[in-house]
Amino acid sequence: MNPLLASLQPYPFERLKQLFASVTPNSAYRFISLGIGEPRHATPRLVLDALAAATGELAMYPPTVGSPALRQACAGWVKRRYGVALDPATQVLPVNGSREALFAFAQTVVDSSASHATVICPNPFYQIYEGAALLAGAKPYYVASDPSRNFNINWGVIPDTVWTRTQLVYVCSPGNPTGAVMPMGDWERLFALSRRYGFVIASDECYSEIYFRDEAPLGGLEAADKAGLASLKNLVVFTSLSKRSNVPGMRSGFVAGDAGILKQFLLYRTYHGCAMSGMVQAASIAAWNDEAHVAANRDLYRRKFAAVTPMLAEVLDVRLPDASFYLWAAVPGGDDEGFARDLMAQYNVTVLPGSYLARTAEGSNPGAGRIRMALVAETEECVEAARRIVAFVKGAKNG
Ligand SMILES: Cc1ncc(COP(=O)(O)O)c(C=O)c1O
Repeated sequence: MNPLLASLQPYPFERLKQLFASVTPNSAYRFISLGIGEPRHATPRLVLDALAAATGELAMYPPTVGSPALRQACAGWVKRRYGVALDPATQVLPVNGSREALFAFAQTVVDSSASHATVICPNPFYQIYEGAALLAGAKPYYVASDPSRNFNINWGVIPDTVWTRTQLVYVCSPGNPTGAVMPMGDWERLFALSRRYGFVIASDECYSEIYFRDEAPLGGLEAADKAGLASLKNLVVFTSLSKRSNVPGMRSGFVAGDAGILKQFLLYRTYHGCAMSGMVQAASIAAWNDEAHVAANRDLYRRKFAAVTPMLAEVLDVRLPDASFYLWAAVPGGDDEGFARDLMAQYNVTVLPGSYLARTAEGSNPGAGRIRMALVAETEECVEAARRIVAFVKGAKNG
């Protein structure tokens, strides 16, 4: 067996299952989950139609590099969304959702023969970064999201000794679980560090289309373009249709950026055997080429967050995030596990303890004392969950 497998941590939902193992939920309430971040809005008709029209593709092996039409559609979307012109032949690759790509990417770029190969992860973080780093033979270095910086990371707190051995930095913007969008100043700082130390930036942007401010979130490609980094050297962004177009089961996304790195990534992927089905490619083209369903989806989230956030803000330290479909709330008393457990027992609502999404580093766990709530169900159900959480917190105060 690969000994590195033993270094993997239990997934947060495994830990949640264990936490709830001894809990008997109050059967007076119907079960509501704010736990898993799985989109539940309807898949748009145009995607289903495109899938159905492309069944002929099943008779052929798809190329790993994807069809020219798909790569063109992805590049076209980047141009419309970020104003950045990409070469679809060399700067775009389709992937089967961003999860597999975020994992495979570390296997491609990390040189584990270097001493103390290090991968920087935000903390809390999307759990794939850690597993990807460990299985690539690197050590993750966790950097806390800073509540005083809208939960963004302060790149300035990382010592030079860490930067010198860093090969890869995962950025998550908009962040899971914080919803924070990394501002231009932080991008500029990170680009300068990358130039100085030579590490690769993997920017995970799968929540980029679910936002609550007037201005759409800044993306890595856009930031690089604004910073004058036309070659996109050492930058690869990861994006996905799962959340944008409500197709988490379709497994479709793309990566874009540094052509030299993508060439190596394609080589890795060719052996890994992860070509996207031609049917999925056809449906993805339809999805990337349409923005109306994305705006409608965003409106649904905006209305839902507008209804739920003020209710919860009455009893929890929480506010509307920049983007994503999560609320990242501090709980009274600071015991996130206890909060999740007792809420489940009394009101049959699942939330995810924040400490499960983070690691203890520099003596503290930056997820502790917080919970993540995924507002993926219909508004009515989320409002009902919020009502119960309010009653739960008020009851705990009075009890
Ligand atoms: C931050 C983040 N990145 C990537 C993913 C993977 O999404 P997908 O593989 O569906 O593109 C998720 C899924 O929840 C996520 O939260």
